[in-house]
Amino acid sequence: MTAPPLLQLRDLSVDFSTDMGIVHAVDRVSFDIGTDEIVALVGESGSGKSVIAQAIMGLLGVGGAGRNARTSGQLRFRGRDGAAIDLLTLDAEERRRLRGRDIGMVFQEPMTALNPVLTVGEQIAELLRVHAGLTRAQAAAEAVARLAEVGIAAPAERAKSYPHQMSGGMRQRVLIAIAMACQPLLLIADEPTTALDVTVQAQILELMRTLKRRTRMSVLFITHDFGIVAELADRVVVLYAGRMVEEGSATDIFASPRHPYTEGLLGAVPRLDLASDTIGAVAILPGTAPDPLAFPAGCRFHPRCTHARPGLCDGKAPAMTALAGARRFACHVRASA
Ligand SMILES: Nc1ncnc2c1ncn2[C@@H]1O[C@H](COP(=O)(O)OP(=O)(O)OP(=O)(O)O)[C@@H](O)[C@H]1O
Ligand SMILES: [Mg+2]
Repeated sequence: MTAPPLLQLRDLSVDFSTDMGIVHAVDRVSFDIGTDEIVALVGESGSGKSVIAQAIMGLLGVGGAGRNARTSGQLRFRGRDGAAIDLLTLDAEERRRLRGRDIGMVFQEPMTALNPVLTVGEQIAELLRVHAGLTRAQAAAEAVARLAEVGIAAPAERAKSYPHQMSGGMRQRVLIAIAMACQPLLLIADEPTTALDVTVQAQILELMRTLKRRTRMSVLFITHDFGIVAELADRVVVLYAGRMVEEGSATDIFASPRHPYTEGLLGAVPRLDLASDTIGAVAILPGTAPDPLAFPAGCRFHPRCTHARPGLCDGKAPAMTALAGARRFACHVRASA
């Protein structure tokens, strides 16, 4: 990769204070998202994937569900002018501007992210007025064009629909059109197809691939599902209990996973001959995710790991071992193998 990365996460940590104690949801996570690259962030439920997305979007520590968060580290983002800014130090106004324009986000449940009392055309047009400075008439016409671009048939008609008048797959297309409205540099997709049936899921993934090819934006794609990773991702970051356990190109990770957790996840990829909406890809990995209020000492995966060595894996946290080809993994046993 020659161009400097679009986003560099450095030692990103997020703690939540709760009535039960401090949840160390994300612990010193560092990775890059390159220009024109799709990075998949993978890990089972509670591993911190959405919290990382919220940190990038500037949704933590400012109110709402993430107001009890304390964030540290750096999120170096290269803007359109090429200058790097730290997303964690922006003020509210800068953050809002960046959110609509440079960073777009697509969520799992489009209904909650759409405004129920505005037509979908109005919602896209509104963004274009605010962020791209279009007039009302220009924005309305452009909104129809954007609906067409995300594969919505009869877009002029559909622009007049309210979200509840659309199917789940169509709503997700609208949400993608909204996220893409200002041609963001980075699109964050947090399990955008989990709530959809398999056929629609495949259509949405195909749409994202097409849009990505056309726009050269970068994508952070969050998923449980290594089947999706195989279809979509250039690079993969694997999280376990808030920590990175492995990173590498999708090709390398599939060919030779180094961390036992990654191996476990890959072994748990749903088989195509089974109805994949009935199986969480990770659900068949033995054991359960640890309690976030009391993570195990040492390697957080060691209680579930068939390779764990007493006195080694339950002692210090494993450091990252770097391999050729920008591959890294954090495992005491494999590092010494
Ligand atoms: N506002 C909050 N207050 C307290 N704890 C929180 C808050 N938000 C997230 N957490 C905790 O942070 C941890 C990581 O949550 P996160 O939502 O990032 O998981 P995830 O990897 O996205 O899981 P899933 O696959 O289920 O979406 C969890 O233990 C979660 O309970
Ligand atoms: Mg999540």
